[in-house]
Amino acid sequence: MAMNIKRPNGTEDVLPKDVHKWNTVEKIARETAESFGFSEIRIPTFENTDLFLRSVGETTDVVQKEMYTVKAKETEFTLRPEGTAGTIRAMLQNGLLNEALPQKVFYMLSCFRHERPQAGRLREFHQFGLEMAGSAAPTADAEVISLAKTLLTRLGLKNIELYINSIGCPSCRTKYHEALKAYFEPHKEELCDTCKERLVKNPMRLLDCKSPICQEIAKDAPLITDYLCEECDEHFKKLQAYLTNLGIEYKVNPKIVRGLDYYTKTVFEFVTTEIGAQGTVCGGGRYDGLIEQLGGQHIPALGFAMGIERLLLVMDKQGCDYLTPKKCDIYFATMGDAALEKAMELVKDLREFGYCAEYDLMGRGIKAQMKYANKIGAAYTVVLGDNELAEGKARLKEMESGNETEILLNDKFTTNFENEYFNKVLDIMDDENGSMFAFTGEDK
Ligand code: HAM
Repeated sequence: MAMNIKRPNGTEDVLPKDVHKWNTVEKIARETAESFGFSEIRIPTFENTDLFLRSVGETTDVVQKEMYTVKAKETEFTLRPEGTAGTIRAMLQNGLLNEALPQKVFYMLSCFRHERPQAGRLREFHQFGLEMAGSAAPTADAEVISLAKTLLTRLGLKNIELYINSIGCPSCRTKYHEALKAYFEPHKEELCDTCKERLVKNPMRLLDCKSPICQEIAKDAPLITDYLCEECDEHFKKLQAYLTNLGIEYKVNPKIVRGLDYYTKTVFEFVTTEIGAQGTVCGGGRYDGLIEQLGGQHIPALGFAMGIERLLLVMDKQGCDYLTPKKCDIYFATMGDAALEKAMELVKDLREFGYCAEYDLMGRGIKAQMKYANKIGAAYTVVLGDNELAEGKARLKEMESGNETEILLNDKFTTNFENEYFNKVLDIMDDENGSMFAFTGEDK
């Protein structure tokens, strides 16, 4: 019977042929975060729904329309729509914020949002993100933005613009909200239904509406940057000076308000025009009130998250390099039971040395085995039959060149193979000037 159960809309399978792309992003992201002194944190896939209501915010699209919530035994749980809320909850619950500050953690996790799927917008997607708690200084903002920029550069990405804004603290925002209300009130009837509600509850979110009519009305709306208090203004100016000093190009975009409610002061996005409408590959900012809001002390914090699927879309489009996928180093084509058993022994030793070694599991003839070795991209093959076993020798064939060397089937087999293999590796490293992505034996 044909399989007719398909994966849910808005989810993706990552197939073996593509998984090295994910490994590339994850490896470089991890190394970059660690080089800035961040440590990895892992948190649950679901949390109490209240956590998201109190952090992401009740007036946001994420909470109002996009959460996957289930009720289990009288408690409501929600699949995390993002990583910040759970990470801060975990920091609070495990006392990390009582330790030396700043606390700096990064994560790679799946997120769930019931959005309308399109290129770069999924219902299950993956984020690489990080959070830094403890510093109110603009150096922390510069550090976090610099980390994001470094990672994008190390991934080989080009043409990604950084937009920054400050959405102020609660005190400057009160005045700004009044100004926004006064501006939008005369247009109230023309606004979409969601924005009518936003006008009362959270007028800044009006600036983020995707409806063309609301966007047109919002065109001349007052700008937050004209309403910043002295402290927020100073903070924003210092951040800009630090970015300039670090050689990080940016544009101030006072229209960036971000889709989540916890932000204060700095917000930023890295955006590309190369993958269509969903071009924001990274979004983040400061959230100085969140920890307190979740029951902790007043501890300022900030962070960002990148959508891994979106990063990969841009990397594919721009032809960025990926780590070489792991392939079979040596394949044994065997004839007869005795040869098969010998192959099993040799394979076991080679694996102990860290090689990927395989032999026939299908009971195929020699020709078909060689074909298979070719298909899986084995670097070397050894043909083992009665003659070879009787002589205690076999021929090691390098598949790409077709070159063959004789190799002894004794207890030195593994060392002999290793010599042959590493000579080859050194050749490749010479050819490619030891590039980062060369086939080096190190990753075993
Ligand atoms: P966000 O802007 O909602 O922020 O998401 C961060 C990134 O996740 C986006 O820039 C985008 O690349 C990716 N993303 C979001 N939704 C989708 C989707 N439906 N499909 C594919 N990719 C998506 C946050 O999540 C904040 N927690 C970031 C943060 C961390 N702020 C401070 N710390």
